Amino acid sequence: EKCVVAVDGPSGSGKSTVSRRLASAVDGVYLDTGAMYRAITWAVLQGGADLADPDAIAKIALETELSIGTDPLAPHFAANGTNVDAPIRGSEVTGAVSAVAAVPAVRKHLVALQRAIIAAHPRIIVEGRDIASVVAPDADLKVYLTASAAARAARRSAENATDVAATEADLARRDKLDSSRAVDPLKQASDAIEVDTTGMGIDEVVQHLLGLLNS
Ligand code: CDP
Repeated sequence: EKCVVAVDGPSGSGKSTVSRRLASAVDGVYLDTGAMYRAITWAVLQGGADLADPDAIAKIALETELSIGTDPLAPHFAANGTNVDAPIRGSEVTGAVSAVAAVPAVRKHLVALQRAIIAAHPRIIVEGRDIASVVAPDADLKVYLTASAAARAARRSAENATDVAATEADLARRDKLDSSRAVDPLKQASDAIEVDTTGMGIDEVVQHLLGLLNS
């Protein structure tokens, strides 16, 4: 039967790794909504739009043709025919994505795409910030992954081979930007199950979520 899992949480909470592993475990697909915002941001930067001009951002966002990979083992993304797997993780995109994601027309467009992808797959794990609250409030399981700021920065800097202190500062900056929006996508849906992953390993978190899914 249909199975939709919403995994929300801040950067470095382990969302991506856990969501991919969970998707493989249930033989389902994986949707990284953060990668969608990042791919649109890449196109906006390519197009040279002024990040202070929401109309210019929205125009490029709506014209961008996205190819969205949902294979949990190889979730490749392309924008306007160019593979963007590497540049969407770079500092330029990371520095601009919160501004792009704050534009209401961008969110409206991407939420509609996300809902269409969810409708097209029987089993799907969807990762993001506003999945339980906005994109898929009827999901079968909604989890909110958290971890201490130090643990999140340590994970992210290990992934990207970057300095821990600089990473912690960048995560704090984005958390603040993301949560200061009119519609706060970091806000936890009231019925989401919070899982603090600070002292937990990946396997432990995945097993815990599988248990919740089967209960
Ligand atoms: O690096 P991190 O795990 O934080 O980010 P991500 O999941 O790749 O998302 C990058 C950015 O996209 C976030 O900082 C948010 O600004 C935005 N985002 C959003 O607004 N809504 C989502 N559902 C997913 C991401």
